[in-house]
Amino acid sequence: MTTSEESTAPTSLPWWAETVGYQIYIRSFADSDGNGVGDLQGITDHLGYLELLGVQTVWITPFYPSPMADAGYDVADPRGVDPSFGTLADFDALVTQAHERGIRVLVDIVPNHSSQEHPWFVEALASPLGSAARDRYLFRDGRGENGELPPNNWQAIFGGPAWTRVADGQWYLHIFAPEQPDLNWENDEVRADLGTTLRFWLDRHVDGFRIDVAHGMAKPAGLPDAPAGSPAAGPVHHEGGIIPVAEGASDPRFDNDGVHDIHRFIRQVADEYTDRATMGEVWVADPKRFADYLRPDELHQAFTFGLIEVPFEATKIQEIITQELTTHASVNSHPAWTLSNHDLLRPVTRYGGGEVGTARARAMLLVEMALPGAFYLYNGEELGLPSVDIPDEALQDPTWLRSGGVERGRDSSRLPMPWEGDEPPFGFSTSNATWLPSPAEYGPLRAELQFEDAASTLSLVRQAIEIRGSHEAFTGDEIDWYVPPAGCLAFRRLGGLICALNTTDEPVALPPGEVLLSSQPMDGDLLPANSAVWMI
Ligand code: NOJ
Repeated sequence: MTTSEESTAPTSLPWWAETVGYQIYIRSFADSDGNGVGDLQGITDHLGYLELLGVQTVWITPFYPSPMADAGYDVADPRGVDPSFGTLADFDALVTQAHERGIRVLVDIVPNHSSQEHPWFVEALASPLGSAARDRYLFRDGRGENGELPPNNWQAIFGGPAWTRVADGQWYLHIFAPEQPDLNWENDEVRADLGTTLRFWLDRHVDGFRIDVAHGMAKPAGLPDAPAGSPAAGPVHHEGGIIPVAEGASDPRFDNDGVHDIHRFIRQVADEYTDRATMGEVWVADPKRFADYLRPDELHQAFTFGLIEVPFEATKIQEIITQELTTHASVNSHPAWTLSNHDLLRPVTRYGGGEVGTARARAMLLVEMALPGAFYLYNGEELGLPSVDIPDEALQDPTWLRSGGVERGRDSSRLPMPWEGDEPPFGFSTSNATWLPSPAEYGPLRAELQFEDAASTLSLVRQAIEIRGSHEAFTGDEIDWYVPPAGCLAFRRLGGLICALNTTDEPVALPPGEVLLSSQPMDGDLLPANSAVWMI
């Protein structure tokens, strides 16, 4: 124990460490100009909503010029705005107004690949083999007698080989769709250009970046074949429409050691500015290898995907929380919990759908928000939206096409936000021709109704954010576990908050204490089935 006043004073954490984050999937958030696609002005128009909800940081998915082969993750110009989303002036206005409301803005950076319509790739195709223009990408000769076979056995995440052949017989690498050629991170121009892009947005006052496929970029020397049985060697299987971004040493497409040097470079650029943060999408299963991305000179934070990967089972949830906290503590970093994003089935659906799925998703929101660290909601999660399947002809995800109509892809989790009114598209757009259909099922879940309803998921999330931000019980990096009844878990934060979760089908007794908030109305003194509670 220390006697020095200075050393007992609470250290103030950086803004990102415990932030209330919110992912805006721009295409489906709010359409201000009636073209059926959400846009920057649509976000600005809803800043009041975000402020009321208690959001402190938004992550906006790509809005750059793009042919939209992968909904904007195929970037043709990383320093512009696609006309379907607005203009740079709209972007500047959004950042200014978000900051006026105390909301920080992260933009999405896609350094692993560009669009095939990026001027560099157009130039590469028009340039001879071995030219400097080709060296910005990963062009290789094929195998087989006449080079007719791909250079290695890697499969693309969206299905099919990760190589496409061009007119002169060479092949180029694309870990995702053929429209997304992978950049060559051994090329100095590629690195310098990312620096230019980062500074371009930092100069426009963004608070930081979400970095797409942050465990990609670096490739192994010689691009060797993946071992048989590796996900990289295929066949590709997307369970439940989810991208199974592969992890582990057996997959040469990701998590190569050279990636850390790239993160150190990104960090150096971010550190040229004050108080900016980098947040990585790092799908790396091995805890030690994951933690390496969070070393003090690399990413500030990375999405903590653990809760997504486990079913609604108390033991597994407890195990993964413990593991994630240990991993983050090993590098003095702070988790950024998440249950949902635009690549995954929505929690309500993942946890079984219907009333039970909704109850479980609400319970997990309370668990997530009780934990030390930041958390990120995905737009619509606060409304308890389910994933909704849409007709074949409406599907847009490249996975559908690339898998030959076997995998339906991620569209079911990307449908337009229901705001108001009793007809689709529920205030999302003035046009009925929205880029993905607006399902009738979303009508009863629209924001305007949920605001009025104290029992709604929106009201639960609002209250939870409010309590989490104002109550002194939510402090301390560590948690202590109770020994609860089977099928339940309970932990206590240093500041005194107790969070209990009941994953069984029966109500359970709770330890004595004052209830701050519960995900379902309490059953007298009992915690109902599929519910969580906050107590002190
Ligand atoms: C991860 C993004 O979240 C996903 O939507 C995208 O398809 C891939 N990266 C490729 O950029």
